[in-house]
Amino acid sequence: MDSIIVTGNGPLNGTIPIAGAKNACLTLMPATLLSDEPLTLTNAPRLSDIKTMSELLRSLGAEVTSMQDGQVLAMSSHTIATTKADYEIVRKMRASNLVLGPLLAREHEAVVSLPGGCAIGARPMDIHITALEALGAEIELKDGYLHAKAPGGLKGATHELRFASVGATENVVMAATLAKGTTVLKNAAREPEIVDLVHCLRKMGAQIEGEGTSTITIQGVDRLHGATHPVVTDRIELGTYMLAPAICGGEVELLGGRIDLLEAFCEKLDAAGISVEETEKGLKVARKNGRVKAVDVVTEPFPGFPTDLQAQMMALMCTAEGTAVLEEKIFENRFMHAPELMRMGASIEVQGGTATVHGVERLKGAPVMATDLRASISLILAGLAAEGETIVNRVYHLDRGYERVEEKLGALGAKIERVKS
Ligand code: UD1
Repeated sequence: MDSIIVTGNGPLNGTIPIAGAKNACLTLMPATLLSDEPLTLTNAPRLSDIKTMSELLRSLGAEVTSMQDGQVLAMSSHTIATTKADYEIVRKMRASNLVLGPLLAREHEAVVSLPGGCAIGARPMDIHITALEALGAEIELKDGYLHAKAPGGLKGATHELRFASVGATENVVMAATLAKGTTVLKNAAREPEIVDLVHCLRKMGAQIEGEGTSTITIQGVDRLHGATHPVVTDRIELGTYMLAPAICGGEVELLGGRIDLLEAFCEKLDAAGISVEETEKGLKVARKNGRVKAVDVVTEPFPGFPTDLQAQMMALMCTAEGTAVLEEKIFENRFMHAPELMRMGASIEVQGGTATVHGVERLKGAPVMATDLRASISLILAGLAAEGETIVNRVYHLDRGYERVEEKLGALGAKIERVKS
């Protein structure tokens, strides 16, 4: 498994282009299953998770062609060859469960492997199941697979999610586009990736209102048609690289960056003493004079502070002036980066879902282990600000969510190299 070696060498300056959002692309791709006409996505990110979703869609009979160095995905699901999403693919990536809604809607049946646990928590599917059952699906669990069917098709209904799950909202919205009648989904998630999905579905002929609010109304239609859609900017990649000059000093322009994608995060950066300015091409981020100030963070569904930026924010807080309390409210086990940061000299106490970080003057390079996707990049950011060399081992998660990390950070003057194994 590859390792990344980073050496702290001062401020970072320059420009980083931000890619299309992994999480948006992973829900837009299964939308191809809803129509027998082609769906083309532009501004797609070049990531291993996108390859895994392509593999899954192909296994279901879709044609997926990657063009322009992976930035354009041309998909066509003229016929569905099978409605079974196999464990061997699903286990690689939880977002595979996003084929459930589209398959049920179009084929009236789906057999989808349960994704299983992952490092950051149990991540059950009960919210997806209850919501699809409200639309008339019959779902049972057999041999590790969800067997879902809707003889005669799904029927619109009013349903309130017990928690604003991103994936469940996406599955239900996709399923409801081809259901008979009207679906009113309450306590829906409001993430920008869901808004992006709705924009694409609308281009395909779906009738949907209320995206970006907690009530989404979907009027079912008989069929959807083809469309071309650009994937929205990746707010998590954006936030991650905004933290690079915050941690190391310097000034970096993030091309394609938008404050409205990350308002709660930008407020915290401001409180910490980081300046964020809108430019013609995106956002410019710089550390104001002196050390970063400690700020408390609570992760919440959008528009709150994103859980997917918690690990990176912790890396920033490690060298802040004062004590920061980080509360993780979305996933039960998402502090695995804390002991690794402590190997680099950070002072952190973890108790349940709360991490208390006492800022230290400087971190020191060390060999560390990347445990999940966002933890991997937080250790790289910490390493860039540390004294000496940091070896981040087991970085395979990184390529799931960040394209060309070495190239992007290297262009800012970071000393970063990949060691293949
Ligand atoms: C998506 C994102 C992920 C992000 C997360 C929260 C994608 C591909 N992934 O994941 O990067 O961290 O949103 O912003 O878009 N839950 C249940 N039962 C369910 C579904 C979820 O208990 O049926 C729980 C989960 O275990 C978790 C919480 O709800 O604790 C949030 O999960 P959810 O919003 O569904 O996240 P994902 O869609 O899996």
